[in-house]
Amino acid sequence: MENKEPQKKGKIWGGRFSEGTDAFVERFTASISFDKRLYQYDIVGSIAHAKMLAKAGIITEEEKLKIIEGLEDIAKKIANDEFDWSVKLEDIHMNIEAALTEKIGEIGKKLHTARSRNDQVATDIRLYTRDQIDQVSNLITDVQKCLLDLAEKEVDTIIPGFTHLQVAQPITFGHHMMAWFEMLDRDFERFQDCRKRVNLSPLGSAALAGTTFPVDRQYTSDLLGFDSPIPNSLDAVSDRDFIIEIAAVSSLLMTHLSRFSEEIVLWTSAQFNFIELPDEVCTGSSIMPQKKNPDVPELVRGKSGRVIGHLVSLITLMKSQPLAYNKDNQEDKEPLFDLIETIKDCLYAYKKLIPKMKCNKTIMRLSAAQGFATATDLADYLVKKGTPFRDAHEIVGKVVSLAIQEGLDLVEVPLDKLTKFSPLIENDVFSILSLEGSVNARSHFGGTAPNQVLNAVQTARSNLEIR
Ligand code: ARG
Repeated sequence: MENKEPQKKGKIWGGRFSEGTDAFVERFTASISFDKRLYQYDIVGSIAHAKMLAKAGIITEEEKLKIIEGLEDIAKKIANDEFDWSVKLEDIHMNIEAALTEKIGEIGKKLHTARSRNDQVATDIRLYTRDQIDQVSNLITDVQKCLLDLAEKEVDTIIPGFTHLQVAQPITFGHHMMAWFEMLDRDFERFQDCRKRVNLSPLGSAALAGTTFPVDRQYTSDLLGFDSPIPNSLDAVSDRDFIIEIAAVSSLLMTHLSRFSEEIVLWTSAQFNFIELPDEVCTGSSIMPQKKNPDVPELVRGKSGRVIGHLVSLITLMKSQPLAYNKDNQEDKEPLFDLIETIKDCLYAYKKLIPKMKCNKTIMRLSAAQGFATATDLADYLVKKGTPFRDAHEIVGKVVSLAIQEGLDLVEVPLDKLTKFSPLIENDVFSILSLEGSVNARSHFGGTAPNQVLNAVQTARSNLEIR
């Protein structure tokens, strides 16, 4: 939108300008509406910088104390919502710096010595991202704990396992929940791995080339809890790989949450009716009085799209930028903030939902019993009695076909009919054709047998404890 009034008021960087900024340009280039979220990080970064300036003899101890006191006061004001944000001051960095100078006078103007907004903003977003990784990691752990509890509770509850969404083999519900657990376990590791590349300090790189002042980059890095200063100043101010990485691991996390969601949507449908969710986490329809909709998992599934979209925005944002800093980088913040808020909400939704999931055990069992789910067990039985697997597969295929014709489940086909397909079949076959027999037989590391699932739960619990 065009605003004809040019803004003639002075700018922090206005020395070489003879005209004011066009009002549209001012609004278009400003980031304060969204980067004010970084204020705490901007202030701790500035405090560390001021301490370093004093240590290096660039400002006096007294000046340092004044600056720190002023910054802390500004932080309080912002926290209490008493700070006047100004679009004219463009971004969080200049809003805070201007407020500091207004508060403590000329000394405030010394804070930006040996620094640029380029290393400043890179520092702020690394501090923000590090904090967020820690919050997200805790939430992942919380959801994993919910899954462990549910897996343990339903360790021997039988549910059909699907391939191609066709009943494949019976499994335990606990086993199914532990598959979700494993997906989140990898997500946790991925966030931790990214954290190493986030936790590095750009401070002291200044605009791009470093600074003529004797800065102590190790000192500011240590003060801010970074692992080390970033080795190259050009890279330090222009690298946004870590944001793309976060968007990528978040997209994968959302892909997992979206898959869980799809299963919950199916399972709560009248057609499956495997699980029930209480009213408090469902919503109704404005026209159909009978409806109880799983809106929460549906929204999580839907929100995966926006997180994956942010990944595409961010990687596209970076792909053509020459070194070093470009204003394009200001566009990194909104997708980053939004994707972080989205994944935190979605993880929180699952933390609430999982403990409320109620299994309709009878229906799950019935469904597992209906799809000839123990056909592989019958084939394995024949193999153990000496039939080559391919022949066994063929024989069982014929048994299934007979069962379909006669409207029977495998376990209901009488022995005299079974022996017509193979004389090796004896009375002991019925125990292996039962659902319990089938799941109990898969008793090896990673198998669906309840004793194995219990082991997996226990191992996972102790691993979470030492996280
Ligand atoms: N608001 C800017 C950003 O988000 C801060 C850095 C501005 N630096 C500059 N040279 N204009 O990237």
